[in-house]
Amino acid sequence: MLEGKRVLLGVTGGIAAYKAVEIASRLRKLGAEVNVVMTASATEFVTPLTFRSISSRPVYTEMFEEPKVWDVEHISLAKWADVALVAPATANIMAKMAIGLADDFLSTVLLAVTSPVFIAPAMNHAMYHHPATQKNRAILEQRGVRFIGPATGYQACGTEGDGRMSEPEEIVRELEAYFRSKEIMKGQKVLVTAGGTRELLDPVRYIGNFSSGKMGYAIAQAFEEAGADVTLISASTAQVEPANVKLIRVQSALEMYEQVLALYEEQDIVVKAAAVADYRPADFKEQKIKKKGENLVIELVPNPDILAALGERKKHQFLVGFAAETQDVVANALEKLRRKNADMLVVNDVTKPGAGFGSDTNIVSFLFQDGRRIDYPLMSKTEVARELVREIAAIRQGTGIKE
Ligand code: PMT
Repeated sequence: MLEGKRVLLGVTGGIAAYKAVEIASRLRKLGAEVNVVMTASATEFVTPLTFRSISSRPVYTEMFEEPKVWDVEHISLAKWADVALVAPATANIMAKMAIGLADDFLSTVLLAVTSPVFIAPAMNHAMYHHPATQKNRAILEQRGVRFIGPATGYQACGTEGDGRMSEPEEIVRELEAYFRSKEIMKGQKVLVTAGGTRELLDPVRYIGNFSSGKMGYAIAQAFEEAGADVTLISASTAQVEPANVKLIRVQSALEMYEQVLALYEEQDIVVKAAAVADYRPADFKEQKIKKKGENLVIELVPNPDILAALGERKKHQFLVGFAAETQDVVANALEKLRRKNADMLVVNDVTKPGAGFGSDTNIVSFLFQDGRRIDYPLMSKTEVARELVREIAAIRQGTGIKE
């Protein structure tokens, strides 16, 4: 998987910097091209000459040194990379990346990189668990940065615990798995819905819900990363338009229904993460409703159930629904799975802290028609989305085995 792949290896100043030499060596043996960027602190632990000899390329250490070739080096390196790996990654580089600081060559390149970024943290146990470092990790994960480790065990400072850099073999395996995962949805057409629908009452008011769109957007992005041809039908959200995804914006449940049904036939996989209003006002008032000082009764009529409509018309498609539950979570979700004829349902108990609407994290279970169920701990929505893609790929390849 690594043959011809271009890896930008960032090495920062920790004792594990010597292990980065083995990472570079393994990558080279597997056919990857490696460009190494070292921070000033890293050069205190290992010399640039060591990496130059292993990578057969110049090593980048200084922002303003004479360029190796005439180019804006930090930009051309960033464009060159298929993937960036920071190993070992100190608490300092994680903090810089989290706030977008660019005060040396490595942090500047990392700000310009648009390809996936992996981080293998290495630091003292207490530094790793400091709230600031944990917050930085959460920010980076939410941005799609992938973490490898840290591992647990004896630390150079004499303590035991997590904070050690993962072993070079494992780090390289993770990169291989990433390049393999880029293929797992190749050729698949995927439709994802996201956000919360708005049901208009009058020109200035609507009935809505708390969906931020984060879950659905993360799913669209994860399918795109896995090589799928993705269409995202998005109701109201403040999320940034995802790259390489066809985005169709809608407002109400009826608009979403029309768009989803029109595109359904050509899809291989449909994931309905949107929070769709079950009811809409019976009539839309053309003028703003005036306050009259007495009770106002609004009549609501049912919206079509989009997921159930897809379930009825299902042919070759793999249909995934979501369930936002507040009580009898699994029983209610199983009932939805069967009634709406979905192949799989992702259930989140939206009363749990860190789960459901608005947060960057979620706590989900996957439920299947055959009664199988997988429970997950608190994870970032990005991780939930990647796990969902891996699970669907495994089912559709008939292996049931995930990377
Ligand atoms: O957007 P975030 O802030 O990140 O929050 C994520 C989320 C909580 C919105 C998401 O994880 C989630 O649970 N989405 C589904 C919310 C929902 O509408 O659940 P439900 O249990 O009411 O509906 C079950 C399924 O039927 C869903 O797939 C829903 O899209 C679908 N449905 C519901 C009603 C309707 N009229 N048509 C539908 O298709």
